Amino acid sequence: MTLRAVVIGVGHYLPERVVPNAEFEKTLDTNDEWIKARSGIERRHFAAEDETTSSMAAEACKAALNMAGLSADDVDAIIVATSTADLTFPSAATMVQAELGMTKGFAFDVQAVCAGFVFALSNANALILSGQAKRVLVIGAETFSKIMDWTDRSTCVLFGDGAGALLLEAQEGTGTSEDRGILSTDLNSDGRHKDLLYVDGGVSTGTTGYLRMQGNQVFRHAVEKLAATANTAMDAAGVTADEVDWIVPHQANIRIIQGTAKKLGLPMENVVVTVQDHGNTSAASIPLALSVGHARGQIKQGDLIVTEAIGGGLAWGAVVLRW
Ligand code: UT7
Repeated sequence: MTLRAVVIGVGHYLPERVVPNAEFEKTLDTNDEWIKARSGIERRHFAAEDETTSSMAAEACKAALNMAGLSADDVDAIIVATSTADLTFPSAATMVQAELGMTKGFAFDVQAVCAGFVFALSNANALILSGQAKRVLVIGAETFSKIMDWTDRSTCVLFGDGAGALLLEAQEGTGTSEDRGILSTDLNSDGRHKDLLYVDGGVSTGTTGYLRMQGNQVFRHAVEKLAATANTAMDAAGVTADEVDWIVPHQANIRIIQGTAKKLGLPMENVVVTVQDHGNTSAASIPLALSVGHARGQIKQGDLIVTEAIGGGLAWGAVVLRW
């Protein structure tokens, strides 16, 4: 018998406020054409004053639980991937646990910036395969609008807020790539590149700080590292690119998404794209794209999916799963 971590629920939450590119033209030397052409982004959602990473994560969890017909009492663990937890501690995950009324099990955050959801998914898979948990809620949730420098046109036009959640359950598989569930994971980081993308605040400064990014330097690493990690994960799963139904990439930049798909030999018809509507929501972008792709009717049970992401650290990775 081979245990598999199978997706039995998916859901997302997006704040009500939608901000089109044109909004930035009022305060910055930028324009809709530049933002669209360089990033593919057309609009993004920004959280309201009273909305937090954990409040959005909890809403995404409720949608995933609802789809599975289960309650929080049926869940053993909650993992939130985020770089924008409400407070320095406790974790956003314990706040979600409280909001869901879950009094057993355990909850913790994973911080690998934009690659956070891939890292969280891999951790959830390990908990399930080792028998430590039978059902795990894995969430990516971010309020990057709270760490934007609104005077820096090279970053503040790129990011957005939101949350997406998967509910994973331990199920028996046969051990082949025909099984539903997570088939392989590949995680990487290289701290030599820590200065390319970081927040200039934290415990050491006594401030929250703002996001700083050398975008074109991150871009240089992205396509090559994303294609490599996706290929490694596909090899480990025993699948080839022509079997893949959907790439569900981190949604940072349409040019990175296109370049990676091309390098993997897959047409854009096989890629779930949400960057135009959400902007870069960091760790939330993959679960948001999975949930929206499912709601659109693109992702169906039995589909072979490759997710891949890169972000601050640099940290990057991929997960191959059958929906
Ligand atoms: O999610 C985590 C990982 N992050 C990423 O994957 C992001 C990766 N990077 C990117 O997506 C792209 O590098 C950006 C979208 C951030 C920038 O695109 P680019 O083609 O790499 O442009 P650039 O940074 O090389 O800048 C080109 C020019 C510069 O002007 P000069 O120096 O050529 O005169 C910038 O000052 O564009 C200028 N620029 C802008 N112009 C209008 C930068 N931001 C803006 C702006 N509006 N908002």
